[in-house]
Amino acid sequence: MPTILVTGGNGYIGSHTVISLFNSGYDVVIADNLANSKMEVQNRLKQITGREFKFYNVDCCDEAALDKVFGENRIDSVIHFAGLKAVGESVRMPLEYYSNNIGSMITVLKCMEKHGVKNLVFSSSATVYGMSEDVPFTEASPLGTCTNPYGWTKWMIEQILRDYAVAHPDMRICLLRYFNPVGAHESGLIGEDPKGIPNNLFPYISKVAGGTLECLTVFGDDYDTPDGTCLRDYIHVCDLADGHVKAIEYLAKADEPVSVFNLGTGKGTSVKEAVAAFEKACGHPINHVFGARRPGDIAVCYASTEKAERVLGFKAKYGIDEMCSSCWKWQTMNPEGLKD
Ligand code: NAD
Ligand code: UFG
Repeated sequence: MPTILVTGGNGYIGSHTVISLFNSGYDVVIADNLANSKMEVQNRLKQITGREFKFYNVDCCDEAALDKVFGENRIDSVIHFAGLKAVGESVRMPLEYYSNNIGSMITVLKCMEKHGVKNLVFSSSATVYGMSEDVPFTEASPLGTCTNPYGWTKWMIEQILRDYAVAHPDMRICLLRYFNPVGAHESGLIGEDPKGIPNNLFPYISKVAGGTLECLTVFGDDYDTPDGTCLRDYIHVCDLADGHVKAIEYLAKADEPVSVFNLGTGKGTSVKEAVAAFEKACGHPINHVFGARRPGDIAVCYASTEKAERVLGFKAKYGIDEMCSSCWKWQTMNPEGLKD
């Protein structure tokens, strides 16, 4: 079976994708520098799959170290998850974000070129659509003006990959634009494990539900939406992981050097609806107050899923209830997250 190099495979989406790849019969090699994940994830993957994956603790910006990974394994395709992803942190530390995210992508491409690897899946984001609210976003929607350095790194890497493919038309590159990944593996053994106080809605709700945090602030209830709170397209991380297997399968037969797909459910869920669904999953009320809008938030964001469904054969299976119940299971089994 083909071998997939999963950079950032120790992280939240990467670790779930490792399981999907394993379930589909692929061999997996992981490269991760543990910048935002803990080694315990590898033990958990072993518990879930019954096998150990080849793991390299390398920085993907380090060309010599990454070259060794390619040299020691016969890599068929790369899924490049490795990157920094905290929006607020990227505003405070723009150089770290530009150098890590763009640097690691360029280094991965150089190693792929040297070792003759042609297939690449890249973790992009709905953030490239910018502040437009012309929903649903289709892959042909105009790319927007990003509001933070993190978003710009995704936007710029997409451009770098398009430019690279012009010079290397035998490349097969898939840009996957994720909407809002949430939830956890059904085992409760892996899930989203943010450092410190979470910025994103689901990790925050989970911690309020679990009693580690006092109260959720809902950022704005005066938006032009049915209940006044923002709508997002939450997608179960296990569905998202399966989308990567579809992308890898697609690249093997793709005609065009670069293809772009949204990965979402096509359904907008409001913050109020998310809180209510989580209350149902955990069985008790979630303490929350309504506060001011968060700067940079748009009212509505959801995907057109038509292209991913038609071309990749990808359709999300899970709804908001499964997203919440899996989050809650992960939270109750790992109230302090994973140990270092
Ligand atoms: P994550 O932080 O859990 O995983 C990223 C992994 O990459 C971590 O294990 C980290 O240690 C590793 N890493 C970072 N820089 C590295 C480097 N230079 N070399 C080697 N490893 C490195 O994040 P995630 O939520 O799993 O996101 C995965 C990818 O998907 C990221 O590129 C992210 O920007 C993108 N994405 C995430 C979301 C989301 O909401 N989670 C949405 C859209 C896109
Ligand atoms: N929200 C709250 N309270 C909180 C946290 C969030 O009300 O404590 C609200 C936000 O205002 C927003 C919604 O919950 O309306 C979702 O917010 P998240 O921070 O969970 O997600 P975003 O849609 O803002 O952004 C996420 C990632 C981005 C990525 C984008 C699209 O953080 O990096 O999804 O993929 F680009």
